[in-house]
Amino acid sequence: MIKKAVIPAAGYGTRFLPITKALPKELLPIIDHPTIEYIVSEAIDAGITDILLIVSANKNAIIDYFDYNMELETILLSKNRHYEYGLVRNIAVGANIHYIRQREQLGLGHAVLQAETFVNGEPFAVLLGDDMYVGKDKPAIKQLVDVFEKVNASVLGTMEVELKNTSKYGICIPMENQKGPIIELKGVIEKPKVEEAPSRSAIGGRYILTPTIFEYLRNQPKGAGNEIQLTDAILRMMGKEKVYSYDIQGKRYDVGNKIDYIEAILDFGLQKEELKEELQKLINSKSK
Ligand code: UTP
Repeated sequence: MIKKAVIPAAGYGTRFLPITKALPKELLPIIDHPTIEYIVSEAIDAGITDILLIVSANKNAIIDYFDYNMELETILLSKNRHYEYGLVRNIAVGANIHYIRQREQLGLGHAVLQAETFVNGEPFAVLLGDDMYVGKDKPAIKQLVDVFEKVNASVLGTMEVELKNTSKYGICIPMENQKGPIIELKGVIEKPKVEEAPSRSAIGGRYILTPTIFEYLRNQPKGAGNEIQLTDAILRMMGKEKVYSYDIQGKRYDVGNKIDYIEAILDFGLQKEELKEELQKLINSKSK
């Protein structure tokens, strides 16, 4: 059973500058909850009990968000604001949240390497701090946990993207004659040129990895974008262990991308009882 998850959240968030100068991308609000809270909740809903958030020097607001705020709680209770007290108190209930700082932003592979001591030789989940999923039937990471239990090897959560978008992702190369939904992989390549993309199966921010990955991350040279890439270490690991992919069933929002971020706000707003009617009217009036 997978009990540990790692959530890298130490990147610069350059696509969202200037706001990310002061506000971590992972705290961008989906109305009244930050993105990363949905990701932490997804892990908890999948039965994960220990979550390591990888942060950086200017991301202390993430740590504050998951901590108690005694002053605010005392004031809310003294004013009999029990509902609001519950809102601030009941965040990430059900798991221990741990933190570590990535001292230099050398890339996703380097961020995951910071988790080696925490992981302590067990298979573990990775959920990117800016990728949100609304899983069909079960949380996205639970879908991968269930596949891991069948194959007992690393599993990459994938989705099919348009050919023109393949250069933005890690792209999977399946073994010949594979019939899904669980696919054994021959290779992976980070951000290939569109004309060289080996498939349209893109890694979408969710992984189950065996601890073997650290053997490769420790000495992984820089790759695409001059960053230490997790995908490159996974490719090397394939020389030693099988790696599988599984198409995640559900809707993904890459909150680091502005259109996806706006879509997440609209979709979540339309789910909220107190907002949905007026929001729908507003959307209708804008689309006339
Ligand atoms: P991204 O590439 O989407 O994040 O990395 P970024 O670098 O912050 O964003 P842009 O492209 O400049 O806008 C995916 C995840 O990996 C984390 C990010 O915080 C994000 O959650 N990450 C990335 C790290 O933790 N450390 C790194 O060195 C790089």
